Amino acid sequence: ADAVAILPAAGKGTRLGEAKQFLELGGVPLLVRAVERAAACSEIAAIVIAAPPGEEERVRDLLAAHGADAKLHAVVAGGAERADSVKAALRAAPAGLPMVAIHDAARPFATPELFTRVLEAARRTGAAVAALPCTDTVKRLEGSGVTTVDRRSLWLAQTPQCFRIEQLLRAYERAGNDVSVATDEAALIEALGEPVELVPGEKENFKVTDADDLRRARGMVEAPAA
Ligand code: CTP
Ligand code: MG
Repeated sequence: ADAVAILPAAGKGTRLGEAKQFLELGGVPLLVRAVERAAACSEIAAIVIAAPPGEEERVRDLLAAHGADAKLHAVVAGGAERADSVKAALRAAPAGLPMVAIHDAARPFATPELFTRVLEAARRTGAAVAALPCTDTVKRLEGSGVTTVDRRSLWLAQTPQCFRIEQLLRAYERAGNDVSVATDEAALIEALGEPVELVPGEKENFKVTDADDLRRARGMVEAPAA
């Protein structure tokens, strides 16, 4: 095991209408499910969580209550933007682990094998991201002109996003204040002109963003596909 998993869980859930990390799916909070999936990957040695400021203790207690704290290393206060939360968690990562897997607490269904595959690619190339090919036809509207984008070159990014920690820290340094506007970590590596590998993601690994997503997630837990 050579990786720390970082789970940003400090969001406000604006689009859902309430903070979602603590909402339960079949009696288990979303955040706890995400942690369990990461912890089940044998290559992950430690887990650091960014919690809403003031809720660090609540997160520790929840994980302990669900027996999901075996690999927990630290719970830190998150920041205003997702990238700030990830940075805060990275600062609390244990020394001696060269790899990091960053995974949204709002994705409860990533398989441990997906973590393994993305980490494996990141060890090779420095940076790798789970992503799904775009299956919709995509239109671009500019002014009143509509064009069709060639979807064969389009991928929808998921997490885990995995990096050599040394490379990610370098990307943060170069990005300076631009870090906060990045909606994922891979964008910072791309800005350096360094390669990012796309690893086939998983359809079930969707992010719970709005009320429809929450219904879908609850449906999967209550009536799992055969
Ligand atoms: N996140 C975080 N710190 C922030 C913002 C987001 O740790 N300042 C985390 C969320 O808790 C979530 C993940 O980043 O696990 C993905 O973010 P998103 O789905 O956007 O969640 P929220 O920011 O909570 O939702 P919204 O954008 O609708 O407010
Ligand atoms: Mg958000």
